[in-house]
Amino acid sequence: MRVIFGDSRNMKEVEDNSVGLVLTSPPYYNAPFDFPDLFPSYADYLSLLNGVGKEIFRVLEEGRVAVFVTADVRIDGELYPIVADLIKIMQSLGFKYQERIIWKKPEGYIRISRRSGVLIQHPYPLYYYPDNVYEDIVVFKKPGKFIPRNKEESKIDVNKFQREKWYLSVWEITNVLPNNKYSKYTAPFPEELARRIITLYSYVGDTVLDPFAGTGTTLKVANELKRNAIGYEIDLELKDIILERIGVNTLFGKPQIEVIEREDAKRLRTKLREKIEEKLQNR
Ligand SMILES: C[S@@+](CC[C@H](N)C(=O)[O-])C[C@H]1O[C@@H](n2cnc3c(N)ncnc32)[C@H](O)[C@@H]1O
Repeated sequence: MRVIFGDSRNMKEVEDNSVGLVLTSPPYYNAPFDFPDLFPSYADYLSLLNGVGKEIFRVLEEGRVAVFVTADVRIDGELYPIVADLIKIMQSLGFKYQERIIWKKPEGYIRISRRSGVLIQHPYPLYYYPDNVYEDIVVFKKPGKFIPRNKEESKIDVNKFQREKWYLSVWEITNVLPNNKYSKYTAPFPEELARRIITLYSYVGDTVLDPFAGTGTTLKVANELKRNAIGYEIDLELKDIILERIGVNTLFGKPQIEVIEREDAKRLRTKLREKIEEKLQNR
């Protein structure tokens, strides 16, 4: 397993056509309670997606997929169409838009803001603001024919597939709750989500890459599912968290972790947390 601290617009440590699956969740633009003012403009944000997308295309094996977990972001009442823009960018880079799955979170665990109360105060048309309980899981395929490996070992449990309704394009999975140790560092996705995606879209022994590793959810689950893992994360302040999270003994032993700290790594988390606290107080 490799963790590289640096900007994933440049993944020079990864060879062309060597990655079996990309699973990632990019920052949610300048989402007020996760990444306030991280990007100078929306155009800068889209340019990041384009830069990383280009590198993903280079490193992915033919016929394999890149899976993005993301959502449109609302800032000062306005929605930014991140999912639509991501799809357009990835298509322009040569990917085929293959699948869109809705990740539905349970009601009651809304993390950021409840908007629906407005209608109860003003029960009239045009006061409707629904609470958001979903994110998109968008799957892009690099053209070509995929080569399976370790087929029998990678076999999918069909009973589980039926029982847990993996066959539907809506997945109901509980999100990482605000009291979880890792949710205060970045916006992690649940291990169950990573487990499903890695099981369905990669083979044992493949390399799974996460260009926005955050707290290392993809890396941890990839290791548990006997895949190799490579993560890029720009924020050096997450280093201890990632290493603590993925360095534990699993059923398959303690992973060997190679850590690279590049010159272009940054220290972001403390500054972001200060801004989040400020926004929470002014709410
Ligand atoms: C939504 S979080 C990922 C959370 C992750 N899926 C998890 O479960 O913990 C996005 C991450 O991308 C990182 N990031 C932002 N820009 C980056 C860049 N240019 N290169 C690498 N990482 C970047 C952020 O620091 C943040 O930790």
